Amino acid sequence: MNSPNTSAASSKHDGIDTLHVELSERRYPLYIGAGILDSFGEYYRQHQLPETVVVITDSHVERTYAAQVQRSLKRAGCTVLLIVVPPGEKQKSFGRAEAIFAELLSRRIERSAAIVAVGGGVVGDLAGFIAATYQRGIRFVQVPTTLLAQVDSSVGGKVAINHRLGKNMIGAFYQPDFVFADVQTLSTLPRREIICGLGEVIKYGIIMNSEFYYSVAMLHEKILARDASVLQSIVAACCRMKAEIVAGDERELGRRAILNFGHTIGHALEKAGGYSTLKHGEGVLLGMLAEAWIAVKLGALPQHSFDVLKEDIADIPLPRLDEFSFVFDELYATMLIDKKAKAGEVRMVLPTDIGAVTLPQPVGKKLLRGAIAFLQGYCKSRSAKSSA
Ligand SMILES: NC(=O)c1ccc[n+]([C@@H]2O[C@H](COP(=O)([O-])OP(=O)(O)OC[C@H]3O[C@@H](n4cnc5c(N)ncnc54)[C@H](O)[C@@H]3O)[C@@H](O)[C@H]2O)c1
Repeated sequence: MNSPNTSAASSKHDGIDTLHVELSERRYPLYIGAGILDSFGEYYRQHQLPETVVVITDSHVERTYAAQVQRSLKRAGCTVLLIVVPPGEKQKSFGRAEAIFAELLSRRIERSAAIVAVGGGVVGDLAGFIAATYQRGIRFVQVPTTLLAQVDSSVGGKVAINHRLGKNMIGAFYQPDFVFADVQTLSTLPRREIICGLGEVIKYGIIMNSEFYYSVAMLHEKILARDASVLQSIVAACCRMKAEIVAGDERELGRRAILNFGHTIGHALEKAGGYSTLKHGEGVLLGMLAEAWIAVKLGALPQHSFDVLKEDIADIPLPRLDEFSFVFDELYATMLIDKKAKAGEVRMVLPTDIGAVTLPQPVGKKLLRGAIAFLQGYCKSRSAKSSA
């Protein structure tokens, strides 16, 4: 895998990739390796983090990776409180956050403790929100165990819960002390979740690095087969790209918005499917295609680049979509409360080539309607092919 040409500092030692997110006030490391979870406690202690640790996880990884992290922390002399939530997007809620605050307070967890999130993006976002707000903020470490969380959500400090009127609407920018990604944990990840992560991996290629895009396109099968060395180099490459973007624009005042490519329509589809028909990464895959269709119509993206993308996405297994009907007005209402919307206008990042995008641009309702109609046709033809 060719390393994208970025300025994020990085090194490889004992099989572990170490990268840094360089912020204006401080820098923090991302450690990426295979089979490194047992050494988590040592890294934690090297960072001189508090002895009292609250590990927040979900019930799918409680007995495997959270238990491993807990044992490793105990060996390193820490006292650990384990908080386990059910899996799923619904946990990013006020209700769940309130229940966790109540547990922390009743257990007399002080400001001097730290929170370690072990799990996917849901656990990372929720635990990070708790860390950012509990007693005005306590130390925080991310141990991502899904591909999506390793390449995207654990890096960059965005933490949030959902509001009934919109996803990730209540949150903060709150950077972790470090991120510890063990790609071996992906060996137990369901194939559908690997595909969700693959959606975000492809996104990096489209928004900033065509060479990376084309090398990933050759590796879909190895990624789906969870080949550890391929996964490690892909996670490291994606983290390098994300670290570079975050370093240049921590608070998303400009360029960081390009990470949102595919997400305006993707989030709307995810919400329309009740967060179950389509998962986040699947919504992003379809959202990228629809937003690229818009870019072609606006003359921003050459048709042949769109065809390449369409062909590559056609190879990626997605749920059968023939029964998933989206109502345009409902999707449009969601897009209007997207964080990029301004003055009542939907705005989105548009690709101009494989490897280059614009900052968010206003897109009119008529074009959006056309993009959704295109997507409906595309989903029908995919479903027809898969049942043939
Ligand atoms: N903060 C950010 O910058 C950012 C960026 C992208 C996405 N997100 C958020 O991330 C969330 C999606 O994250 P996700 O895709 O990781 O979903 P998730 O956290 O729901 O994890 C997916 C499923 O995999 C299970 N799981 C986790 N690790 C496992 C493992 N190693 N083996 C077996 N099962 C495992 C989980 O229990 C869950 O059922 C969304 O809420 C999205 O909004 C945040």
